[in-house]
Amino acid sequence: MPRLAIYPGSFDPLTLGHLDVIERAARLFDRVIVSVGVNSAKQPLLTPEQRAQGIRESVMNLGNIEVDSFQGLLAAHAERKGASAIVRGLRATADFEYEFQMATVNRKLNSTIETVFLMTKWEHSYLSSTIVKEIARLGGDYSSLVPEPVARIIAEALSGR
Ligand code: PNS
Repeated sequence: MPRLAIYPGSFDPLTLGHLDVIERAARLFDRVIVSVGVNSAKQPLLTPEQRAQGIRESVMNLGNIEVDSFQGLLAAHAERKGASAIVRGLRATADFEYEFQMATVNRKLNSTIETVFLMTKWEHSYLSSTIVKEIARLGGDYSSLVPEPVARIIAEALSGR
């Protein structure tokens, strides 16, 4: 049975930290679906379509990655896709409580799907979509924090194109 994992997130926008997790997940699983979810608690910079487009262009060199988007419950989406795992990146200590809660809820909803955590690389431990969004909105240089296609899409979104 080919091993399929879902890597879900808001990806608003995809950062180099996310890309590193995707590349490592691509080596662990036969197929990885990067799924853009809608987190209503956050103020979006990019539309789900713009986020998915940026991810697609950033993973073109990887043969076993697909990109989609989902609404509603992650556990239901993962089950529909036939995934055996949900991949999440984990930075230092900041993410632990939220991730622990999410993994526990998702296991309650579907006990057959295992959440797998990949520790982010040390050099990406400070990086988050929220930081990139803030720098971008305040006119700073975010080009070393995101893949090149994503930087272009952010610039287009900010200029209203
Ligand atoms: O990158 P993020 O913002 O941490 O991603 C969060 C996301 C989209 C993966 C999460 O909010 C999610 O799974 N949303 C779907 C709703 C859901 O399944 N909620 C129950 C599990 S907490």
